[in-house]
Amino acid sequence: MLRSGVCRSARGSTGSRSTSPRRSEQPYAAAVSSGTAGLHLLCVAAGVGPGDEVITSPYSFVASANCAIYEGATPVFADIDPHTLNLDPVAVEAAVTDRTRRWWRSDIFGYPSELDDLQRSASDAG
Ligand SMILES: Cc1ncc(COP(=O)(O)O)c(C=O)c1O
Repeated sequence: MLRSGVCRSARGSTGSRSTSPRRSEQPYAAAVSSGTAGLHLLCVAAGVGPGDEVITSPYSFVASANCAIYEGATPVFADIDPHTLNLDPVAVEAAVTDRTRRWWRSDIFGYPSELDDLQRSASDAG
């Protein structure tokens, strides 16, 4: 896959939509078996560990929180915006503590999060 940029399996192929390190100009890529495994890998790569807090959405698949627990960290749920159903930047800011290591969001139903506002709100969290 890394050479061709195409992921093939018995169930199909990503065809030309696949993003390889070469196409995305990123030095590395990792293939994982599921969304949960990808989130867990993200957690490890982000250096999340015991004693840390990770801010995430209560309105998402449970893997968004479980991946922090897998690394001994504590998921902290910040409330969502009732209109977008995505993380509310004001709630994220209120949830930041000196133990906050990271935050991540889901773009619920594909509706983009207020990324600039979230980054400002959680700027202390990395
Ligand atoms: C936001 C989100 N994260 C993670 C997952 C988990 O994906 P998987 O079932 O491939 O582990 C899902 C699955 O629906 C999801 O919606």
